[in-house]
Amino acid sequence: MHRALQPIDASTEGLVELAKDATAPEGLLFHHANEGRPLATPWQIAALRAQMVSQHELPPGYVLDCACGSGIQLAAYGAALQRPLLGVELAPERAQASAINVRTVAHHTRNSDQDWYLGTHIVSGDGTDPKGVVAALPNNEIEVAFLHLDPARPRNSRTHALEEMQPPLHLVLASWAPYFDKNQPPSLLLDLSPRLTGAQRIEVESIVDAIWPDIARTWEWTSRGRGRVDRLALWLGGVADANAARRFIRVPASLADAPIVLRSKGLLTAPEVRYHPPKRGEQVSILDAALMESGLMEEWLHRVAPMQQGRWAAVEGRRPQLHHDHPLQLEVQDQGLVQATGRVVELLKFSLDETTVDQLVSVSLEHRLASVKLRFDIDPALQPKLQGSLDRQLKRRHGDREGFVAQHPHGDLLLLCVCPSEAEPSPPI
Ligand SMILES: C[S@@+](CC[C@H](N)C(=O)[O-])C[C@H]1O[C@@H](n2cnc3c(N)ncnc32)[C@H](O)[C@@H]1O
Repeated sequence: MHRALQPIDASTEGLVELAKDATAPEGLLFHHANEGRPLATPWQIAALRAQMVSQHELPPGYVLDCACGSGIQLAAYGAALQRPLLGVELAPERAQASAINVRTVAHHTRNSDQDWYLGTHIVSGDGTDPKGVVAALPNNEIEVAFLHLDPARPRNSRTHALEEMQPPLHLVLASWAPYFDKNQPPSLLLDLSPRLTGAQRIEVESIVDAIWPDIARTWEWTSRGRGRVDRLALWLGGVADANAARRFIRVPASLADAPIVLRSKGLLTAPEVRYHPPKRGEQVSILDAALMESGLMEEWLHRVAPMQQGRWAAVEGRRPQLHHDHPLQLEVQDQGLVQATGRVVELLKFSLDETTVDQLVSVSLEHRLASVKLRFDIDPALQPKLQGSLDRQLKRRHGDREGFVAQHPHGDLLLLCVCPSEAEPSPPI
């Protein structure tokens, strides 16, 4: 049984959870129900996405989210696209929370008297049953301009099999396909698990191709930092990026800053680890693991390390490590993609523990280092002790430069590196 509600009429009765989203502007609070909060899209991601969708021309019709949860993404679309929204949510209290959240965003963005808001409906019911959804609306003939799907996934599932998504992708696409304008490619955004494997991405593409063969597509990896891929999305048809088969977005810490966007039209190529002997004077850079996972690392290196043949020391895990001959040419926005970069000044032939940390302090002082960060995998119980000892001993000595220690990939050798200081700009290559 489907039931439609309009944000203007929705009541907050029974909704007890009102929470601040750390990425939302001051004063924007969202309601959640039935543990919908951890499923909700962070406001900053929702707003950024909505802005990116607004750069595409959409046909007339509803912005449809057929598994709208707390309606955060849906509300962001409303404000950015100024289109009537149609949200569908299986859990009735979450549908109610969605209606309230759309209203909150409409008020916050001074859109309460706009047609898109007054024409918005949230339906509580099954998002794979468009006939039931449409029957609950005042107007029984609808067109879909754009479809967003962020299916629920079982928590703590390691495999993330596609069959576990709720609602199932193939049912949503097949059931809603007749509601798109037949004269142009449909516009869809599938917000999928960041843990999908390459094989599962191909499986998703074949589900899409079964309904719209050869539709344009762009895979997008979004990271909010810390080397993690936070979202993996497939942009399809009218909203696919004409300049990219793959796209990487690094969301900045502040809403006021622009994101880094990297694009590639090419096929995914995986960099390979290359053996090379340790060398004083070479550069070591520990780069962003999410950028590596997206397969767009090479495109970024073309800009920041032009004409350089790097040697990969590690391509997997939390610390992709590149060795190269000249400093990276970084612009301010690139800093977020670099964990550490610098020149090797010493090859440390001892393994680091509580008995050898003083040796590292002496070598570091010889190189005028005021701080040295440990950038290799160490026993987590030992890491804070060693880092604390280094910080204490180097502070208030004569050092004025920053450095780090990386591990040479072959053998136990550690590399002491000095970061470029702002006073010493990178020499042109
Ligand atoms: C990941 S959440 C969506 C979160 C949303 N993007 C937001 O910003 O709040 C997925 C939602 O799909 C809902 N769902 C699962 N199966 C459904 C179905 N057949 N029809 C409609 N909603 C469904 C779940 O109840 C859950 O709230």
